[in-house]
Amino acid sequence: MGNCFGCSTGADVALTIPSDTADRVLAVSAKGRTRWSRALLTRRLSLRLSQIQRKHKRAARPGSGSNKPAVRKKLPLSSEFPEKTHNSSALSNISIPKYNDKRSFESPKPEAGLIPLSPTAKAFPFNELKNATRNFRSDNLLGEGGFGYVFKGWVDEQSPTAARPGYGLVIAVKKLKPEGFQGHKEWLTEVNYLGQLRHPNLVKLIGYCSEGENRLLVYEFMPKGSLENHLFRRGPKPLSWATRMKVAIDAARGLSFLHEAKEQVIFRDFKASNILLDGEYNAKLSDLGLAKAGPTGDRTHVSTQVMGTRGYAAPEYVATGRLSAKSDVYSFGVVLLELLTGRPAVDKTKTGVEQKLVDWARPYMGNKRKLFRIMDTKLEGQYNRKSACGAATIALQCLSFGPKQRPSMVEVLAMLEQIQATKNSTVHPRA
Ligand SMILES: Nc1ncnc2c1ncn2[C@@H]1O[C@H](COP(=O)(O)OP(=O)(O)OP(=O)(O)O)[C@@H](O)[C@H]1O
Ligand SMILES: [Mg+2]
Repeated sequence: MGNCFGCSTGADVALTIPSDTADRVLAVSAKGRTRWSRALLTRRLSLRLSQIQRKHKRAARPGSGSNKPAVRKKLPLSSEFPEKTHNSSALSNISIPKYNDKRSFESPKPEAGLIPLSPTAKAFPFNELKNATRNFRSDNLLGEGGFGYVFKGWVDEQSPTAARPGYGLVIAVKKLKPEGFQGHKEWLTEVNYLGQLRHPNLVKLIGYCSEGENRLLVYEFMPKGSLENHLFRRGPKPLSWATRMKVAIDAARGLSFLHEAKEQVIFRDFKASNILLDGEYNAKLSDLGLAKAGPTGDRTHVSTQVMGTRGYAAPEYVATGRLSAKSDVYSFGVVLLELLTGRPAVDKTKTGVEQKLVDWARPYMGNKRKLFRIMDTKLEGQYNRKSACGAATIALQCLSFGPKQRPSMVEVLAMLEQIQATKNSTVHPRA
């Protein structure tokens, strides 16, 4: 499975961080590595922070070369902290908030669970969600991600109250692990974006809850689960070629919508586990917790912390922290390649070049004769060769090293639709 990462560029370092917040950041980051006491964590982080503050004060002194651009110091992706076992986008590294992000980290007041944060999503009392999921029973568990567990539940269609299992509206409740600040920031971003944006290819955010330390998100239930489960887990019937093309088109529609919005939204964590399928295999994007507003005016990118999922993130973004809609296009290329090959973006069970899907597949993608060698064997040859070649060509364009060489999502969508419209593109056994 892939790995998660996050690192902070020099430009992102904040000079003033409340000590309790800072404590929580390190506590999150250090999770799983070692069982340090909270006091020790606090001391270690305070030490680190005062080092950073001293360094910045020195840099800011006149004549100290402060007018030179800050050197971007990239922390190692995951050498300092362990990699998580699942393909999650949660931080695995120390992440210090951007100074201008400070406001979004402010915790809502205790009673904020009842303050409307979104015009469309409902504020749920914690107890109602507890009842709706039968006390977050393990039988109701749908899955686990980097930031929390997801449970199935039932609520009243009209009011934010629990309903008996099998009655009312079926929901998926994501309960964030109570680990503070990064989770809270994601929660807020998700409520802000998904609570306002509506599109058939975006998962609907029905509600949220913020009571005390509890942060929850209430989504429409997606009966067929994630694309990741269908492509890489043993069990479900393999997705047909026609369904794979439909999923690619639906996902491209969702991304195009975000990119073309009046205020552009960059998804930043586009991957197979964030594409969910409803009962008819309509695909919808979920998890806008890492989403970022796109550049404005003449700017081509925004500079930000490197966060996302290894294997999916665009190389220039990982190297420089420069994020643009074209970073999502790269990630889309990786998912398209996963749909073609049935292999995950990063496969730890493989060795050498085979570990990273893009590196392994690239030499075969632009060659009609070679392409069939990397096609998913679970398709058993039941795919249209022409449309597979077309999809591989699009994926290759999305995976261009330079962001400018990549097509826009609108162009990708148009190309995919054209492939689908071509006669016999649904199922045609390979000769
Ligand atoms: N709305 C939903 N309906 C049905 N199942 C869902 C829904 N949302 C999430 N799930 C299930 O819960 C699993 C975990 O989702 P979650 O978003 O927490 O983790 P993830 O996408 O694997 O990792 P990350 O934390 O990086 O996003 C999904 O793979 C999916 O199977
Ligand atoms: Mg997810």
